[in-house]
Amino acid sequence: MKNREQFSGNLSVIMAMAGSAIGLGNIWRFPYIVGEYGGAAFIIVYFAACLFIALPIFYAETIIGRRGGLDTYGSMKRLAPGTHWYKLGLLTIISPMLILSYYSVVGGWSIHYLFKSVSGTVGQETGQFSEFISSVEAPILAHTVFVILVAAIILGGVKKGIEKFSKITMPILFFLILVIVVYSLTLPGAGGGVDYLVRPDFSKLTGGAIASAVGQAFFSLSLGVGTVLTYASYMRKQDNILVSGLGTAGFDFLFALLAGFAVMPAVFAAGLSPSSGPGLVFETLPYIFGKMGAGSVWLTACVAGVFFLAVLMAALSSAISILEVGVAYLVEEKGLGRSRATLYLSLFAWAVGLLCSLSFGPLADFKILGSSIFEFLDKLCSNWMMPLGGLLFTLFVGWKMPSADVLDEFSNGGSKPWNVKIYPFVRVLLRYVAPIGIIFIFLNSVL
Ligand code: PFF
Repeated sequence: MKNREQFSGNLSVIMAMAGSAIGLGNIWRFPYIVGEYGGAAFIIVYFAACLFIALPIFYAETIIGRRGGLDTYGSMKRLAPGTHWYKLGLLTIISPMLILSYYSVVGGWSIHYLFKSVSGTVGQETGQFSEFISSVEAPILAHTVFVILVAAIILGGVKKGIEKFSKITMPILFFLILVIVVYSLTLPGAGGGVDYLVRPDFSKLTGGAIASAVGQAFFSLSLGVGTVLTYASYMRKQDNILVSGLGTAGFDFLFALLAGFAVMPAVFAAGLSPSSGPGLVFETLPYIFGKMGAGSVWLTACVAGVFFLAVLMAALSSAISILEVGVAYLVEEKGLGRSRATLYLSLFAWAVGLLCSLSFGPLADFKILGSSIFEFLDKLCSNWMMPLGGLLFTLFVGWKMPSADVLDEFSNGGSKPWNVKIYPFVRVLLRYVAPIGIIFIFLNSVL
C-alpha cells in the first residue's frame, strides 16, 4: 500500500482534532443549555461528563485509529479480523455523511450572514431569519458554496488541506471569539448574562440535565462517527495519545465557555431572553449587533462580520473532519482517487442537504416520524447514531481488544510513564463508566 499522509506532530494533531470538535455545537448549543440547566452547577457536571465519559471514548477511537492505521472500516477489519466488528466501521461511514448534509446547511447560513454583515444589511429587522431559511434560492446557494469550500480543503489532503487549514484558523478563531467576549461584556446590562452562565442552581440538575451534559460532551467532541478514529490514523507512532486527548478536550471546553461569554451577556444587554437552537446565533445576535451599533453601520458590520467569520471557520473545520471519514474509506478500501472520492461524497452531502434546506420551506409539511427532514436527521444522528458508535467503540477497546495491546498503543510501547501510570484508571472508565454513561443518554432519548 502506498504511503499514507500523516500529521506533522502533536500540535498539528491537537489543532486538527480541536478544529473538528469546536463547531456550531459550541456556539449555539452550549451557551443555551448552561443557563437552562443551572449555570455553574451544569458546567461542573459538563466538565465531569467530558472527563469521565467523553474523553475515554475519544481515547478508544484514537487507539483504534492509530493502531489500525487505516480508515474506520479498514482499521476495524485489521484489529478484529474474521469478526463482525467491521460493520461498526461501516456504520461510522454512513453517519458522518448524514451529519455533513445538514451541518452544511447551517454552515451555509453562516456564509449568508457573513455576507449580509459585511454588506451592512444585517440586523435591520427581526423575522429575517425565518424568512431566509424558508426561502429556496438563497439558503441553497449558501449551502452549495459551503460544500464547495469543504471539498476544496479536503482535496488539499491531510497535511496541506486539513492540517494547514486547522493550524491557521484555530488561533484566529480564538482571537475572534475573544474580541466578541470583550465587546459583549462591556455592553451596559451585560451582568445579567454573566449571572445566567455562572450562578449555580443545583435544583436544576435533573436527570435530563445530566443526560444533556453527556450528550453535549459527545456531540462537541465529535465522538462515535469515526472522525476521531480517522484523524488518529494520521498520527505518528511517537505522538502522545494522552496529550492529544487532553489538549483537544481542553480547547473544546475552553471555547464553549468563551462562546457562552460571547453570546449571553449581549443577549441580556439587549433585554432579550435566550432561545435555543440556531435562532440564537442567526436571529438574536444580528438583531443585537444592529441595535448596539445603532447609527453606526460600520460598527455593526465589523462586530457582526467578526462574529460570523468565527462561526464559519468553526463550522468549516468541523465539516472537513466529517467528510474525511468517507473520503479515507473510498480511497483506501475502494481504490478511488482522492478527487473522485471527494467529488462523489460532496455531491451526496449536497443533495441530501438540499432536502434538509427545503425542509424549512416548501418541504416543511413532509414529516418523518413527526419531524421535518432536517430535524429527523439531526435527532437520528445526535441521539442515536453517535452514541451507538461511541458505545461500540468503547466496548471494543474495553472488552474485545487485549488489554496489553491497548496499553501498548496508549503508552507508545510503554515509553510514556504518565500514560502507563494513568492507564488502569482509563481502563475502568472505558469498561464501565463510559458505557453506562451512554446507556444513560439512550434511556433519556427513549423516555
Ligand atoms: N463537534 C462539532 C460541533 O461541536 O459543532 C460537530 C461534529 C463534528 C459532530 C464532527 C460530528 C463530527 F463528526
